Amino acid sequence: MRVWVAIVAAVLAGGSATFAVAQHRQHHDASAPPARNDREFVRFPPALVEHTLANMRDHLQALHEIQLHLGMGHTDIAANIAEKRLGMSSLGLHSASEVSKYMPQGMQDAGTAMHRAASRFSITAQEAGVTGDLKPALTGLAEISAQCVGCHAAYRLK
Ligand code: HEC
Repeated sequence: MRVWVAIVAAVLAGGSATFAVAQHRQHHDASAPPARNDREFVRFPPALVEHTLANMRDHLQALHEIQLHLGMGHTDIAANIAEKRLGMSSLGLHSASEVSKYMPQGMQDAGTAMHRAASRFSITAQEAGVTGDLKPALTGLAEISAQCVGCHAAYRLK
């Protein structure tokens, strides 16, 4: 429970520009989910839409595995998953250069920020293995998910 409070607090406090965009969009009516057409439609070729969504589902799976391994104290495994599946090393995995040419600049920036945050998290998680203090890693994890939240609030493919 305390861990989740920390993550939520870190996300709320997160200085990320993308997240500020997401928050701003939701401020119009805090009681209702943002209207669908609030998000910018981005046209990808159909095959790339499917490929991207499959890749997104793996992003979520990776976040889940990272949380699970952090909770078990397997900081090196969490670090490895973050770098390989979400970090700068993952760019080749999902044909980033092919996909990015269809993205508006803000979407590209959110993607890049996510990859950078994941690579930074990977280092922080390895350090946590040495210091035994998970807090910086949990904050780093929230910096990754802030990019998921921000991009989702701003763009849609369907
Ligand atoms: C650069 C923008 C961007 C980033 C960063 C991003 N996503 Fe997405 N994601 C999208 C878009 C666009 C969609 C499609 C949404 C739509 O059309 O309604 C999507 C869809 C998804 C879906 C739905 C997949 C499906 O089968 O429909 C999941 C799950 C998801 N993202 C998880 C994540 C997670 C977890 C992260 C962060 C680790 C993340 N995404 C980061 C842009 C992004």
